[in-house]
Amino acid sequence: MKIAIVGATGEVGRMMIKCLEEFELPVSSLELFASRRSVGNQLFFNDRAHTVQLLDNAAMLRHQDYVLFSAGAGVARSYAPLAAEASELVIDNSSAFRRDENIPLVVPEVNGDLLSGYSGIVANPNCSTIQIIIPLAVLDKLYGLKKVIVSTYQSVSGSGNSGIQILNMQRRGSSEKGIYPEIIDLNVIPQIGGFLDDGYSQEEDKMHQEARKILRHEEIEISCTCVRVPVIYGHSASVYAEFEREIELSDAEFALAAAESSVFYPNTYMTPLELGSSNDTHSSRLRYGVDRKSLCFWNVGHNVRIGAAANAVRILKRHASDTGRL
Ligand SMILES: NC(=O)c1ccc[n+]([C@@H]2O[C@H](COP(=O)([O-])OP(=O)(O)OC[C@H]3O[C@@H](n4cnc5c(N)ncnc54)[C@H](OP(=O)(O)O)[C@@H]3O)[C@@H](O)[C@H]2O)c1
Repeated sequence: MKIAIVGATGEVGRMMIKCLEEFELPVSSLELFASRRSVGNQLFFNDRAHTVQLLDNAAMLRHQDYVLFSAGAGVARSYAPLAAEASELVIDNSSAFRRDENIPLVVPEVNGDLLSGYSGIVANPNCSTIQIIIPLAVLDKLYGLKKVIVSTYQSVSGSGNSGIQILNMQRRGSSEKGIYPEIIDLNVIPQIGGFLDDGYSQEEDKMHQEARKILRHEEIEISCTCVRVPVIYGHSASVYAEFEREIELSDAEFALAAAESSVFYPNTYMTPLELGSSNDTHSSRLRYGVDRKSLCFWNVGHNVRIGAAANAVRILKRHASDTGRL
């Protein structure tokens, strides 16, 4: 398979290279693109050096089987449509196309069927959405999801490499706020992105819209509070959900443990520091909410892996096997 990665030097781009290796995909050619300042740098795929190239129109018009974009919404808007003309599938990690009703927003474990017979641009959802939508889809199938209230605890790598740099500088004594509205070291910030007229932040709004689109369930009531915390990798979420039907806790636990890319802990819980290189979403502390038709649980996932790169590579893998490339 011929693959290109745009934004290859970033947190997500570098993890995409790692996921392509780990998933042992048959890559016959890999082209890497980033901004002007990274041109000429070398990145390694399966121990072979690949030189970072300049992103331009001509490069995007070269045929690839798959082009993975992870360079922000502006770059995606400028170049992904060109790449989609020349190549089979373009998988974009940014928010540029997620709300476009003609573009599938895919978590393969939940709505991978949308990839069947599709070519063009596919949107990869927001990181926090991916890790909670997998358990919520499992529970929705069993009990009929009506309402979700989520509070997130999101790591600084969710802001890309600059988030990690700012936290590390502040830990060494800097009082520069950098990309954040407040100091993040030894603090929590209840703002991710700008605020909208309804009082929600952009990150919260993304979760509201994207969850409904992925579950194909416009009536679900959803309210999120997204909080940045001084953790390097791994987003956490406290989830409360209401359902149409009564729940048997042991059945819900069994379904969460059996679902693809989902790990369930009956007697303990996961913290972000323990995630390591897991590409799964980890749920624990499952309990009734206010009655037998509601649940609370704790969820943790690696934002750069399942929240971004691993989901993108799973989209690629699913499409490649549907189209006989695997
Ligand atoms: N981090 C996460 O947890 C996460 C999760 C889900 C989705 N995302 C999304 O994924 C995208 C990348 O995030 P990230 O965390 O990897 O950010 P990052 O670490 O800041 O990396 C950004 C990448 O984009 C490249 N880039 C920036 N401007 C460019 C331009 N004009 N032309 C070509 N390349 C350009 C950068 O190249 P240089 O190195 O040359 O600057 C770098 O490779 C964003 O849209 C983000 O919202 C991130």
